[in-house]
Amino acid sequence: MKSLILVTLLALVPCVRAQQIGLITNTEGRKTTSLDGQWQVIVDPYESGYYNYRYQPSDNGYFKNAKPKSKSELIEYDFDKSATLKVPGDWNTQTDQLFFYEGTVWYKKSFDYQRRPDTRLFVYFGAANYLADVYLNGEKLGRHEGGFTPFNFEITKLVRDTGNFLVVKVDNKRRLDAVPTLMTDWWNYGGLTREVKLIETPTTFVNDYMVQLQRGSRDHVTGWVKLAGEKLSQRITVRIPEAGVNKSFATDGNGLAKVDFNTDLKLWSPENPKLYEVFIEAETDGLRDLIGFRSIETRGADILLNGRPIFLRGVCIHEEAPLRGGRAYSREDAVTLLSWAKELGANFVRLAHYPHNEFMVREADRMGIMVWSEIPVYWTIQWENPATLENARNQLSEEIARDKNRAAVVIWSMANETPLSDARLSFLRNLISHARSLDPTRLLSAAMERHYLDPKTQMIDDPLGEFLDVLGCNEYVGWYDGLPEKADGLDWKSKYQKPLVMSEFGGDALFGHHGDSLTRWTEEYQENIYQHQIGMLKRIPFLRGTAPWILTDFRSPRRPLPGIQDYWNRKGLISDRGEKKKAFYVMQRWYRELQERSRM
Ligand code: GCU
Repeated sequence: MKSLILVTLLALVPCVRAQQIGLITNTEGRKTTSLDGQWQVIVDPYESGYYNYRYQPSDNGYFKNAKPKSKSELIEYDFDKSATLKVPGDWNTQTDQLFFYEGTVWYKKSFDYQRRPDTRLFVYFGAANYLADVYLNGEKLGRHEGGFTPFNFEITKLVRDTGNFLVVKVDNKRRLDAVPTLMTDWWNYGGLTREVKLIETPTTFVNDYMVQLQRGSRDHVTGWVKLAGEKLSQRITVRIPEAGVNKSFATDGNGLAKVDFNTDLKLWSPENPKLYEVFIEAETDGLRDLIGFRSIETRGADILLNGRPIFLRGVCIHEEAPLRGGRAYSREDAVTLLSWAKELGANFVRLAHYPHNEFMVREADRMGIMVWSEIPVYWTIQWENPATLENARNQLSEEIARDKNRAAVVIWSMANETPLSDARLSFLRNLISHARSLDPTRLLSAAMERHYLDPKTQMIDDPLGEFLDVLGCNEYVGWYDGLPEKADGLDWKSKYQKPLVMSEFGGDALFGHHGDSLTRWTEEYQENIYQHQIGMLKRIPFLRGTAPWILTDFRSPRRPLPGIQDYWNRKGLISDRGEKKKAFYVMQRWYRELQERSRM
């Protein structure tokens, strides 16, 4: 009998060890240790730190961080004598040698860590572009694919008090079957582009939770709390002191507690971005988060925020660091970009074309700016490749996992400018049902296809529209499509009784480059485009939002025109040096008009 109990216990332990730890979605209030700073790096275009000369993965790669033990031992690399790169940061803008570099760079960080008893330890990456193989003390922790979403690995059993070395192979090579695929219109900034930190948790901890208003409700909070660890059957308490909420729920055998209660809350909105301190407490762990509560839904062609029709006065933003260029990653970067958007009169931003860093969505929460967040299913993805679909689903899961408690995020976008086909439609429908299963509270959209019904009529009847809540369309009337005044005679029709967000429009101008309003690349030409665009947009009966392309100039390898572009896409309303172009004020004037009207 005793041996039987022992066998059962032993059987249990491995299963506990193997329990899948999801993304750790909130580190607020946890003991975290930043690993940001200078990391030793080895630039490895031939991946000789990973493959042997027969191009087979080697057991003795750079992840071993080997040192010669004798004068005769042959070791052909040495991290500690190698150059360094700053983390977080892309490698392209840190040294001219790597400006155009696409390939593998090995990162190494040494650290000591005294883990407290009865705790677990995780290493967390805000993002690594594009493919990351992660090792601790020579042992493989795992691989992550996708350059714009966070991931973490448990290192409890591998970490030692002193002399730890974390090695990450980061490869930003573009691939046809990847997400995004080979061709994009943004710079393929490589590296450990966001923060890296160690997160210490109790052995049983609050791994993840969702606490939001039920879709369409303004007083019914629903969600869940998920424990990870050994002691999965516990009582969970959700407290919102300011709202007098103190509710407790029991977890099931898997550590999952359903959260469900009614309460009277001040609703989050751009005018009043109310965030509540929310405490998620278990017997073995507790977390604090700042959460806003708002309802977002559609009714016919209207978008309703907290039950009231709203117009999304938006602008698109790439994650290009303001004023210095390179991949943005900090709170300051976020505040600068969002403050410029506010100055434009925006209450909404389209974060293109991939999930931006967490500071962007948390600052949008705080500043009262609604967010369209997108995964990089961009242009011609390999629709029929199951691995590509799995990759896109995984990026969507990670995006939603990280930002599902952010009131600011109102729209998940599935894709941008993807060509019509049955394979494309089934791929995107798969993502749509995945998103709805993960988050039933938000609206889904995409930048869909449109076409000319006749020379004077644009038609939106992309079959994708049937499965979305909000229609998105990009158009460049006046830039890629005719001259600015062409917009004057253009009408828009839609097959769907749904709201439209014009998710891109605009044209290029080099700041300070002047001429008449029909001279390309001048501020006057760009201004001319916007003046005619606004006239056209005002005439679209089902238009409920606009997001001009784009807030600031951004780098793109597809834009080499010397003296004008120099590898910058110049469609910004603001230059890469923070200078406002004439078109900025055209948009600002219209948004101020709309704002005045919405106050009435
Ligand atoms: C496209 C695309 C953007 C691109 C823009 C442009 O519509 O979605 O990623 O940068 O047009 O051509 O400037």
